[in-house]
Amino acid sequence: MNEGCCGREVAEQSVDCVIKKMSSMFYEAALSDSTTQEAMRPGGLRLTEDSLKLVNLQPGWSVLDVACGAGATLHLLTRRFKCHAYGIDLSARILKKARAKLSGRSHENLAELIRADSEFLPLREGLFDAVICECSLSLFPNKLRALNKMVEVLKVGGKALITDVTLKDPTLKNAESIANWCLCVAGAETIEGYINLLERSGMKVLYWKDASDAYDWGSADPEQIRPLLGRIGYAVIIGAKP
Ligand SMILES: C[S@@+](CC[C@H](N)C(=O)[O-])C[C@H]1O[C@@H](n2cnc3c(N)ncnc32)[C@H](O)[C@@H]1O
Repeated sequence: MNEGCCGREVAEQSVDCVIKKMSSMFYEAALSDSTTQEAMRPGGLRLTEDSLKLVNLQPGWSVLDVACGAGATLHLLTRRFKCHAYGIDLSARILKKARAKLSGRSHENLAELIRADSEFLPLREGLFDAVICECSLSLFPNKLRALNKMVEVLKVGGKALITDVTLKDPTLKNAESIANWCLCVAGAETIEGYINLLERSGMKVLYWKDASDAYDWGSADPEQIRPLLGRIGYAVIIGAKP
């Protein structure tokens, strides 16, 4: 196993590692609830598909899905866009779900799954035409390290598609009760915060939009969501490695 949260040295003492393990376990539990959709993010596959068109994805491209979850986007990348898709995720259980989703499909051989920590990608430099990270950067304790890794594995000119929860009210960052309710909020940034991080990683930001209308609170308890309404949002950001 690579270094990082999956590796023994760090796993023994790092607070960041505990946060990562907790968030992975949170989504493992969510996935074991049969009502949870396989795309574990606001906007679902429709937002992904629309955003991928903006990236101008081409058949045959090598694409990395960082924190791929249960494989919904990998499936879309291989089936619809005919890309070679690599998915990494910290959770072996979630990867098992992704593997099951892809197995037996005609495009199965276009996808590869690797258990890894986003901050310590065990992948060669300059390998990918595009990197995707959906609703997960907010979960990484060291976002800049994860973004630096994404830049490293991108080819020159390669694109990055980031979609994530945004804080419209930055005071929420310290709200423990909400953090417990929804881990993505605890580590989320404002749109400007994400853009700043992408630029610090060396990416050129090509496009961004507020996609807060992607939220569908579905069957969530109105009492629980009331404190969040208008205070969190969702964003789509596209960057490129210059
Ligand atoms: C909100 S889910 C999003 C999954 C997928 N991108 C989607 O949109 O359906 C977050 C995912 O991030 C993974 N994760 C959390 N921390 C991670 C890390 N440090 N490295 C890799 N994956 C991580 C979790 O296991 C989980 O599958």
